[in-house]
Amino acid sequence: MIVVDRVTKIFDRGRPEEFTALSGISLTIAAGETVVLMGPSGSGKTTLLSILGALCRPTSGRVQVAGRDLTRMPERSLSLLRRRTFGFVFQQPHLVRGLRVIDNVLLPALPVSDPEEGLRERARSLLERLGLGCRAEARAESLSCGEAQRAALARALILDPPIVIADEPTAHLDTARAAELISLLASLPAGGKTLVIASHDPLVAEASFVERILAMRDGRILEAG
Ligand SMILES: Nc1ncnc2c1ncn2[C@@H]1O[C@H](COP(=O)(O)OP(=O)(O)OP(=O)(O)O)[C@@H](O)[C@H]1O
Ligand SMILES: [Mg+2]
Repeated sequence: MIVVDRVTKIFDRGRPEEFTALSGISLTIAAGETVVLMGPSGSGKTTLLSILGALCRPTSGRVQVAGRDLTRMPERSLSLLRRRTFGFVFQQPHLVRGLRVIDNVLLPALPVSDPEEGLRERARSLLERLGLGCRAEARAESLSCGEAQRAALARALILDPPIVIADEPTAHLDTARAAELISLLASLPAGGKTLVIASHDPLVAEASFVERILAMRDGRILEAG
């Protein structure tokens, strides 16, 4: 379960360009739930996802994940928790060029140890499941947009995180590729994963696996649908 309690984020605090990106967000996401954040550009979706995923700290307020208060954890334990708890899919797949697809998928495991054979097998079977089995040995830069985004999803899932955070995962995909990615995302809650997605894409918002839509505007949540 994720509990967000009165979270604010102020960028460049105390400077002329000070900007309040989140103003007092409170929100509870149950384990296994699928939630979509919608809202215009600049409404704070990415900022909120980054705070939920322990990629950045709020200016004030608290975030608890599975009973642990992220806002009180030192950086070292935070980065451990981040790796074990969250899988991230961003708008751009950010695959490392020159590396094979399978090695990109294994990247999150590297800080832990040299990926052992079991993990390599898991990477292969994930790629297989995402329809990329035959591209595992290809260089990342040879993938199409849709393939790269699916590889990024495999990378997000490699350590089997309980929470998947996806920021505009369909933004660079055509309708067919977007629908494909959505159906892959839709298969995750069945595995018990919590899914938090930010998206402008009506295809995502209308997807039947989405349980709750939160509308954001000016750093606030307007309504819970
Ligand atoms: N590091 C930063 N420093 C200063 N301002 C920032 C920073 N990151 C985000 N902002 C500002 O905070 C606001 C919210 O940004 P955020 O990226 O969360 O919006 P968003 O809803 O994800 O928008 P989009 O739909 O365009 O991705 C924006 O006005 C942005 O310019
Ligand atoms: Mg964003």
